[in-house]
Amino acid sequence: MIKQQLDRFNRLELLGGATALEKLERLSTWLGRDIYIKRDDTTPLAMGGNKLRKLEYLAADALAQGADTLITAGAIQSNHVRQTAALAARLGLGCVALLENPTGTEDANYLSNGNRLLVELFDAKVELVENLDNADEQLNALAERLRNNGKNPYLVPIGGSNALGALGYVRAGLELAAQIENSGIQFAAVVLASGSAGTHSGLALALSEVLPDLPVIGVTVSRTDEAQRPKVQGLAERAAELLGVQVPDAFKVILWDEYFAPRYGEPNAGTLAAIKLLASQEGMLLDPVYTGKAMAGLLDGIGRQAFDDGPIIFLHTGGAPALFAYDSAF
Ligand SMILES: Cc1ncc(COP(=O)(O)O)c(C=O)c1O
Repeated sequence: MIKQQLDRFNRLELLGGATALEKLERLSTWLGRDIYIKRDDTTPLAMGGNKLRKLEYLAADALAQGADTLITAGAIQSNHVRQTAALAARLGLGCVALLENPTGTEDANYLSNGNRLLVELFDAKVELVENLDNADEQLNALAERLRNNGKNPYLVPIGGSNALGALGYVRAGLELAAQIENSGIQFAAVVLASGSAGTHSGLALALSEVLPDLPVIGVTVSRTDEAQRPKVQGLAERAAELLGVQVPDAFKVILWDEYFAPRYGEPNAGTLAAIKLLASQEGMLLDPVYTGKAMAGLLDGIGRQAFDDGPIIFLHTGGAPALFAYDSAF
């Protein structure tokens, strides 16, 4: 059902095939528990990450509307802004990004290295803002300014997380389900970082239809369960509505919110330990804002026996370019 509906939507084919689902051999041995990783950190644009899947749909829509500029917003070290700016360059579009400093740090690498450096290389115009508390309004005001200057901007919401962007992860969910079925393995759960929620909503929506018994666990990176739940639920409902399907009965929002402290954009000891563990055991790079926190949740979940039997899948959503902005944390 979902698959047929999804095929009706325009998509720029930027991924070039499924990302790998692979076993982390040494980590599995070290933990005594099999861990598989879905490699969305390897999507083929500008150092990879989850946003390319959302942008396949959003940028197709932008081109269909004759847009000449992508506008978006995020933190100074936003992976989303980096991938949006790179895609704008690739498509010959302009890009304007509103950036906030969520922790108020004055660390020189945070302010100008990592993703911020890459956004500069992609020739995006950056406007620093005090905060993004009213991001939609701020982006609409920017769009109005650009239209007054003769431009035709396309608004990509924070994290690419609207119903259309979430379709990228509905598609990823179907892709992952096919890989799981081919593997013949009974997995215990999928674990991922839950931020602006498009990744979590889309993936959980698709998997609830095709693998209804597989728990999809979102580890929050900025919010309590109470604050994140309506975002994930609401976006899944809007994505289902856009697709013209019912939210399957098996759809469930599962959130672990014990791993994001002290706040968005600031790693804690568990985050740093998870990053170090994956780097030293596997040569695998996580990031200090999203995947380090999600992996810390997965590791702790094993310790507290929170999973059913079976191997666990970690969705690696990327983010390693931010490591160069967080060197002082290590
Ligand atoms: C590396 C990485 N992982 C996970 C996420 C979270 O995805 P979402 O915003 O769709 O919840 C992001 C979002 O910016 C990200 O950059």
